[in-house]
Amino acid sequence: MKKNTQLLKLIHILSDGGVYSGEELAKEFNVSRMAINKYIANLRLWGIDIQSARGKGYSLSSKLELLDEQSIRALSRAADHSFEIIPIIDSTNQHLLNQIPNLQKGHVCVAEYQTKGRGRRGRQWYSPFGSNLYYSMYWKFDEGVAATIGLSIAVGVTVAEQLRKLSQQDIKLKWPNDLYLNDKKMAGILVELTSKSGDDAHVVIGIGINLKMPQFQSDVITQPWENLMFEDKNQLVASLTDALKENISHFEQKGLTDFIPTWNALDNFTGRKVKLLMGDQAIEGTARGIDEQGALLFEQNNKIHAYMGGEISLRKAD
Ligand code: BTN
Repeated sequence: MKKNTQLLKLIHILSDGGVYSGEELAKEFNVSRMAINKYIANLRLWGIDIQSARGKGYSLSSKLELLDEQSIRALSRAADHSFEIIPIIDSTNQHLLNQIPNLQKGHVCVAEYQTKGRGRRGRQWYSPFGSNLYYSMYWKFDEGVAATIGLSIAVGVTVAEQLRKLSQQDIKLKWPNDLYLNDKKMAGILVELTSKSGDDAHVVIGIGINLKMPQFQSDVITQPWENLMFEDKNQLVASLTDALKENISHFEQKGLTDFIPTWNALDNFTGRKVKLLMGDQAIEGTARGIDEQGALLFEQNNKIHAYMGGEISLRKAD
């Protein structure tokens, strides 16, 4: 059996939260106890929080719900969603980008662990096994790149609405498309696009949601962050897929207009002092929501300027 297959089997066994001795696991896998020790060390490197009690055995710090195709289909409005679950992957976005000619609109890839998860502005997206959601959807815009302007705003609104409905928590948005809970980042969206001029635009929408990431891993992340603390990952995948397909189709036909009021109502920073980071430059002002194109409205010296573009980030002023 290949190494990852064995490690995944071990995760499945431990996922019920029970305590398993090294001896019984060694028997189950037909390997030595030393080999089991190595498997456990490997799972810890993947970011899984495993307790070991002398004389008793190994257990997870809490039960782990794993992604499951049947559950997702049963929980979706449409039984015919095209999606794949790949437990261990480099990046769900990269996986879809690599297969664009073979994909149909709305195809989804989800993973338990990403070895090269990526975020906006070239940053790494820390992706430990099982405790978060790593989700990507493919879409094709026949009208080309111009038709995708504002897409990330429509996606942000859709994700915020779904997470608010499922978790009953006061989830907010930060321009251009981060999700905030308790004034900290809880999820991020990375929209990647390929197109030759005058051609269709192919888009991969990547969504990373912190669900119950152990706090001991927080030192790898550079911004204050929060967990959604929502257990049912399969429900999340089903609801996000239903809502994204519906709302992206709406965006494609009618544009951004219908998403703006919800975005402005859920804006975490409207009326607050913020910093805009652009390369090495940082400017201070007040956030004033977004305009009809999805540009950030930013007030400085009593004048409001509209900012647009992938290389700008907004931060709380100190
Ligand atoms: C951000 O920087 O806030 C965006 C983070 C996007 C992360 C997600 S996780 C699933 C998908 N695959 C990736 O490699 N990145 C996105």
